[in-house]
Amino acid sequence: MKIDILTLFPDMFQGVFEESIIKRAIDLGKVEIHLINFRDYTMDPHKKVDDTPYGGGAGMVLTCQPIFDCVESIRTDDSLVILLTPDGNVYSQEVAYSLRDKKHIILICGHYEGFDERIRSICDMEISIGDYVLTGGEIPAMVLVDSITRLIPGVITEESHLNDSFHDHLLDYPTYTKPRVYKGMEVPEVLISGDHQKIDLWRREESIKKTQLRRPDLLKK
Ligand code: ADE
Repeated sequence: MKIDILTLFPDMFQGVFEESIIKRAIDLGKVEIHLINFRDYTMDPHKKVDDTPYGGGAGMVLTCQPIFDCVESIRTDDSLVILLTPDGNVYSQEVAYSLRDKKHIILICGHYEGFDERIRSICDMEISIGDYVLTGGEIPAMVLVDSITRLIPGVITEESHLNDSFHDHLLDYPTYTKPRVYKGMEVPEVLISGDHQKIDLWRREESIKKTQLRRPDLLKK
């Protein structure tokens, strides 16, 4: 998979893609990530990428030209263009799964007070990572890259994400490691029984119980 990230702040991404599983996925050739500063595409002699809003109001608005030209120069028939915006569809594990097979994803990070409404016309999807407003689309773009990359076949074992929270609309079951007793808290007996059928059943029941208690909205799905 190739991911192009259009941003005015490419340096924000450095550490994130140079550690852990994303780094491994890049090294394995499972994902190729390009950071593109769309300021490089502006035709403005002063390298401006924003302007005041028509009708008045506070702040500056990203202009169409640099983003349109940048997208047009990198888009192919295989590309999916996603705009990160608080008024997009709310992101979920289900959406992450639907994106893991894409050949080319272009992520557009908005910034400042907003972007010219016409930029939406070149996007295939608009995604919000939650009902709160961030200073820009960079952190949401990192969230998408991380959550999609770990689902690409061969990046982590398939078994790991079959057990993820939100798989089957259930939260993850509780897990324990050594020691067996810590500060008086014991590991449930069943996990030491060696009976894998019993363990699977216990895990499923715990998942359902936890989901009922914490996220009953998920069970309705
Ligand atoms: N840009 C600013 N806030 C955002 C959010 N919650 N999701 C996606 N993009 C954003």
